[in-house]
Formats: sequence, structure tokens, C-alpha cells
Amino acid sequence: MTDTRISTAPSGITLTRGTTRRRFLTWSAVTAAAAFAPAMLGSAHAQTGGSGPTGSSGSSGSAGSVGGGADLFSLGIASGDPLPDSVILWTRLAPSPLEPGGGMPPLPVPVDWEVATDPSFRRVVARGTEIALPDNAHSVHVTVNGLQPWTEYHYRFRAQGQITEPGRTKTTPAAGQSLPALSFAWASCQNWVNGLWTAYTDLADTTSHEPLDVILHLGDYIYEGDHRKSDARDTRDIDFSVTREPYTLDEYRLRYSLYKREPELQTAHRAAPWIVTMDDHEVDNNWAGEISQDDDDPAAFLQRRAQAFKAWWEHTPTRVQAPTGPTLTIYRQAVYGDLATFNVLDTRQYRSDQLYGDGSHVQDAATADPSRTMVGAQQENWLLDNLASSTTRWNILAHQTVMTDLAQMTDGERQVSMDGWSGYEASRHRILDGAVDRGVDNLMSIVGDIHRNTVSELKRDYRDSRSPAVGVEIAGTSISSGGDGKDLDDAAENMLATTPEIKLSSAQRGYVRTTVTPEQWSSDLRVVDQVTTPGGRMRTRATVTVPAGRPEISLD
Ligand SMILES: [Fe+2]
Repeated sequence: MTDTRISTAPSGITLTRGTTRRRFLTWSAVTAAAAFAPAMLGSAHAQTGGSGPTGSSGSSGSAGSVGGGADLFSLGIASGDPLPDSVILWTRLAPSPLEPGGGMPPLPVPVDWEVATDPSFRRVVARGTEIALPDNAHSVHVTVNGLQPWTEYHYRFRAQGQITEPGRTKTTPAAGQSLPALSFAWASCQNWVNGLWTAYTDLADTTSHEPLDVILHLGDYIYEGDHRKSDARDTRDIDFSVTREPYTLDEYRLRYSLYKREPELQTAHRAAPWIVTMDDHEVDNNWAGEISQDDDDPAAFLQRRAQAFKAWWEHTPTRVQAPTGPTLTIYRQAVYGDLATFNVLDTRQYRSDQLYGDGSHVQDAATADPSRTMVGAQQENWLLDNLASSTTRWNILAHQTVMTDLAQMTDGERQVSMDGWSGYEASRHRILDGAVDRGVDNLMSIVGDIHRNTVSELKRDYRDSRSPAVGVEIAGTSISSGGDGKDLDDAAENMLATTPEIKLSSAQRGYVRTTVTPEQWSSDLRVVDQVTTPGGRMRTRATVTVPAGRPEISLD
């Protein structure tokens, strides 16, 4: 999964638009495109050196014609996990995405790709061929190396004479590079049956805002629950194999296919590189380590987890290595010059089981038990070492569940969620105290999970009013989970009254768009007024600013 960067740019390929989202090469383009990529079955990848046509004439390959002319790229394209000199490109061939195997024959199929510095592909800087293998659901992950730091690129794929629309991607800055601004967004929680993904259209819209440098997805990219009933979607023609709760690899693949067909999601993937982590629903609701929601036999759950991890990898533009079993190291870092570091965490795979039946409960000796952990010792040490060695202005924890006590008064008791960090107090202390001890400036926590926007101060102990703020947390609301929602719901009123560190709580759908500079963090909480019916209108619910040097929240 490597390539060679080429310095000579072949002439542009003439394209004609098809009647669908696909584009087809013209006859003349096919001739010209013999250089675009050779078909080389029998090896995991092929690469070109810019020396003209090599190999046979492209994409027919020994797999013959597949898909019967249907859109091979029905699940879109994506890029992700950028580095200063590299990005990952992703696609998956699936002419019949809601059929087992995506409608592909059990044969390897070559997929050509190219990367250019311009959207019309006149200045191609890298190209090659990757083999889509049946064992990976005909997904491909191309590692493009030799790119320039902090540079915008355009990429596309071709197979069987079909060529994709281009995607835009961007590398990170060189290590230590002075960066005046970074523009990014984060999203989470896109339960397909709960609502439409209008927010993604806004996220990808560059007529209203500058192109984003990177997009983070903080989990619940799919939901594993029964999908036969929907408030917003017509599910009548969808087979039960797709809508039932997935347990096997093929069933998880079908669930990803259902989600990745959505054009709004595909548009958002083409807009910028993504950094994707996972939360619980990529596997099972509120799983913890080896413990499933329904307390299945741990050995059986690990079998299921392995299937879910494999399907996640197959559908994610990630540098994470393909899993071969029930473990997958997904925590990782993305560094943007001297400005910002994203520490992308995994708060599911290594955590202790939730207390008190995973509901809401008062904090006590059990929630404060230092033997309990949210991230595991190894990841905790990795994170603290990263924080100690950080050279960036902003230090961001990009993860799933909130650190803040979103405490509410229930039956006369101050209760918090046992699924968030508030049920793992010692683990939270170790991270927040560790950051303070290491002199970390400008600590920010960005999360999803709770299907509401909240803006709050990060504190070691929310029951101690003298405990100082050590950072700021912004929970981004869901793309669609929870349905239309409501700006100020009962839970918001309760937590705002109970927890003074929470400055805003709103339960409409949307995402968060952010610009950071050396002087300031600024987040627009973009929300949509409805998701169960088309035509939802976006607005900025609030703009959250935090000055560098002080964890002080301002809301406009
Ligand atoms: Fe969720």
C-alpha cells in the first residue's frame, strides 16, 4: 500500500459526465489514460514512475467486467489521517451495496488512483493501482507518500472504465511549522433511522465558509441497532439482512453500506481529509472492553468485536493497520505545526465496566476508585507523554464521551452518567492533573456521544467549587441521532441549574466548525431546525471563543 511520487505530469484526461454521479472516460480519454494506470493483478499494489504507458490498457483486468454497469463507487471516496508528506485514500467497490459482497464477484479487481495539485488533474503528482480484494470487501486503502506539507491536493479513482468525482485533501504542516490558523470541524452520532444528514451539506459547503483543513469524526459513524423502523427514512424496500442488528462481518458491512450510500456524507468526505475514531455503536451500545450491552459471554463478544473492527477498518480512510482479531489500536495523534495537536483517544476498548448498571448515579467511592480506568494504563501513559512533549499552542483531546460532570438533580440527588468520565473520576483526575503537572497550556476537550451541544469548564472535581478550571470542553451535538431535538430541553435546564461550569446546553442536531489561531479558539455550533423531514435550515446557535492562555469561555 505504497506508491511512488512522480514529478512529470501527464496531460489532463478528458471526461464526460454520465447521467449519474459516475463519470465515464471517453474513448479518446481511454487511450490517453493508458498511462493513468496499468492493471497488475497478482500483487497488492502497482505504482507508476511517470515514464508513460506500462502494462495493459487499464482497468478491465483479469476480473473481467464486474457490476453489470452499475456504479462501482456507490459508497463514495475519502481521504484521511494526513501527515506532512502523506495521506490515505479510500474507496470500496460495491455496485449493489445492499447485497452481500456489495454485488462484487469474489475476485481481485484493480483500482487506479491519482493525485494532483489542481482539481482538473493537469498537474498529477502521484498515481498508481491498488488491488481491491474480496477479503477486504473490495475496499482499498492507498498510502500516498512524497507529498508536500500543508498543501491541498485532489484525488480520484478509476475502475472498470468508471471514474469518480474528485475529492479534496490536505497534508498537515511540517513539524514545528509556524501556522497562523487551522480550520476544522467535528461530527458524531449519525443514526440513520433518526434523521437526515443535512448538517453534512453545510459542513462541506464552501460558498458559506472557507474549505476545512481537516474533519474529525468522534464516533457512532454507524448504529448497530434494529433499523426496521425510521422516523425519517423509507425502509420498506430494505432487506432484513441490512436492517437487523449486525453480529457477523457481512452484517456489519451491510450496515456500513447503508450509511455510506448517503450523498451528504459522501460530499463531506470529498471536502477534506477525515480523522475517524469510534465510540460504542460501531460495535454494540455502551460496550466496555470485553463487556457487551447484554452481558454476553466475553469470548463470544470478542468474536463479534473482531467482526465490527474489521468492518470499521474496511470503511474508514485510516492509517490504522487492518485488524486480525478483536483488538485494534486506534488512538493516535495529529499535529498541525506549532498550533494544534489532536490526541485522538479510544475510550471503549480499554475501559473498566460501567458502574451501577450504566445508568445515572451519584458519585461515590466506587466512581472514584483509582483502579478503574477509562483509557487503560498504556494509552494513559502515551497521552501524558504526548502532553509533556507537546510543542503546540493548543492541546486537544479528541474523543467520545464528556469529561465534564453533566450533573442533574434527579429524585433529590446529584446524579451523573456512569458512561462518561464522570463515572471514572480517578482516571479523569490522572489526565487533568497530569496535564497541569506537565505545564500544558490551552487544554481543550472535544467530544460527541451525548447528542447535544454543551460548553463547559474542565475541572478536576466538580463538587469542589475551589477546583480551578484547567481547560474547556465542547461537546458537539449529533448529526441526526435523537431526531429533531429541541434547543432548551428539560435535561439542559436541569444541568445548567445543577452544574455552574456548564455555560451552554442545546439538544438540536448539527456539528461544530472551528478556527484556531495562536491567540484564540473560535467554534461555531452549527445546528439544523429539523432532520426528520427534508429542508432543514442551518444556523449558528452560538459562537464559543476561548482566549489562548486562559480557560475562559465567551458565548456570542
Ligand atoms: Fe451516539
